Amino acid sequence: MIISKRTLLGAGLGALATPALAQATYPTRTITMIVPFAAGGPTDTVGRLIAQAMAADLGQTVVVENVGGAGGTLGAQRTAQARPDGYNILLHHIGMSTIPTLYRRLAYDPINGFETIGLVTEVPMTLVARKDFPAQNLAELIAHVRREREKINYANAGIGAASHLCGLLFQKAIETPFTTVPYRGTAPAMNDLLAGTVDLMCDQTTNTTEQIRAGAIRAFAVTTPERIAALPDLPTAAQGGLPGFEVTVWHGLYAPRNTPAPIVERLNGALVAALRNETVARRFADLGTAPVAAERATPQFHRQFWQADIQKWRPLIQAAGQYAD
Ligand code: MLT
Repeated sequence: MIISKRTLLGAGLGALATPALAQATYPTRTITMIVPFAAGGPTDTVGRLIAQAMAADLGQTVVVENVGGAGGTLGAQRTAQARPDGYNILLHHIGMSTIPTLYRRLAYDPINGFETIGLVTEVPMTLVARKDFPAQNLAELIAHVRREREKINYANAGIGAASHLCGLLFQKAIETPFTTVPYRGTAPAMNDLLAGTVDLMCDQTTNTTEQIRAGAIRAFAVTTPERIAALPDLPTAAQGGLPGFEVTVWHGLYAPRNTPAPIVERLNGALVAALRNETVARRFADLGTAPVAAERATPQFHRQFWQADIQKWRPLIQAAGQYAD
């Protein structure tokens, strides 16, 4: 990639942190992509596919490091506090929009601590239960949860996770609170759902599609306005009797604040190449998702979308009154 003098001058104050020569030759070594949830889960799946395709474009290895825990805030904190030199990036999801409201005390700035690189994908969620759960459809599930709410265990990946948000919306929609069990990610939560030691979960299709197809878990609804091609037999929540119960999990790529603009631009170029990669697109489609359209994979669109999404979820979280601290 050719980086002009004008681009380097346009990098602003942040560029001072990394000498111009280093920016022009970037990257010269391995890049670490932090995934703030457990290995093998939905964010990890997206992260690893993207990391591999970005590495091909960048000519350097992109290593995924899982820093799970505290609903995705530990991995975000690690990134926000890393050197802004382009060798530390973060793949995070919709939690970037809910965390600023859910957490009133954090050791990093959840809004201004990052540079946006671009949106990656938008993933539907599915409401699922252990295989032998005594409900065959969404109406029966709702009736059962209302009747037996003290006995229900709903697995999630901690406050700030997509599975937490979906559970919050479900409880509100059916006006029934139930017990939630936090994990470091929905990969270990899925293991317990498969083992039958927890009852319910709402998780991204990137983690549930194969288990649903195999009949290893029971699925009740997809949380998108339309049915999805990967699971055509699964009704939407609206079709199952819960109109308005909708949530789609968007994922985006970040760098620490003050990462120089030419480096963010180079990372964006690699992201765009990854989103055009046929293997990525095929695997995404198989798991019920797709790469975002090119106009959404820009740092500018990503920032605007993210900031608007923080405002979208804030009143809902405040109304629920369930904070992490
Ligand atoms: C994960 O990767 O474990 C998930 O994205 C967790 C979640 O947000 O529900």
